[in-house]
Amino acid sequence: MLRVEDLSISFGGLAALSGFSVEVAAREIVALIGPNGAGKSTVFNIVTGLERPASGRVTFLGRDLLAMGPHAIARCGIARTFQNTEVFRQLTVLDNVLIGCHAHLRAGALRGALGLPAVLREEGAARATARALLARLGLEGQAGVEARSLPLGLQKRLELARALAAEPRLLLLDEPAGGLNPTETQALMGLIVRLRDERGLTILLVEHDMELVMGVSDRVAVLNYGRKIAEGQPRAIAVEPAVVEAYLGREDD
Ligand SMILES: Nc1ncnc2c1ncn2[C@@H]1O[C@H](COP(=O)(O)OP(=O)(O)OP(=O)(O)O)[C@@H](O)[C@H]1O
Ligand SMILES: [Mg+2]
Repeated sequence: MLRVEDLSISFGGLAALSGFSVEVAAREIVALIGPNGAGKSTVFNIVTGLERPASGRVTFLGRDLLAMGPHAIARCGIARTFQNTEVFRQLTVLDNVLIGCHAHLRAGALRGALGLPAVLREEGAARATARALLARLGLEGQAGVEARSLPLGLQKRLELARALAAEPRLLLLDEPAGGLNPTETQALMGLIVRLRDERGLTILLVEHDMELVMGVSDRVAVLNYGRKIAEGQPRAIAVEPAVVEAYLGREDD
């Protein structure tokens, strides 16, 4: 479904990615792990059109994503959450999710401004979808409150609800468990697996919480200083010497 090939990008002389490749098949859950600064979020930024690589190729269902901007990429069916949770703080929880719905509604903004019937029908459908998503994520009681008043764990769930509202086929999650307590992380693990099993979503996630990575991933790719140093099944990756060394330093150090 997603094919990332031979990506390289530098920021002011620092090679953030060097020849990085990864593939994600439909309905797969793939984790991208690695130490801080390894280049994980940069991969997401390139796939979603926020950064352009110096070289490499990115295709989604055969379409060249590097030829598209962020909005066109979103319309192809790719949604993401951010490492530093990004919700519209002054908007209500419900409006945050409606914005996600509007990312893929057919009726245009002009028709919306004119209040034409097709738009009103879509608007009603969007509200129903948004409310269903909030219920699904346990946020139905907060629909009317400002997003900024939610604790971090719920803001992260709201951001996920907004991403899902766009009805993506591929979901990119950047540290979804960051800042969550163990109970919240357990609930998130269940949710990630259900999104794949019940909605058929394909998921690429970046995460430092190894319990989550080991618990949900079909496959793990490991980045270190912008290069892929290992890839495979979670259990094999956990004992791979190059991975242990990248995380802990050399044994003889
Ligand atoms: N827009 C940018 N401008 C300058 N440097 C950047 C930019 N984006 C990323 N970098 C640098 O590129 C490297 C990789 O960053 P990236 O955010 O991809 O790492 P990461 O693996 O997501 O790390 P973390 O686990 O800390 O989130 C880092 O050294 C970072 O400082
Ligand atoms: Mg990051």
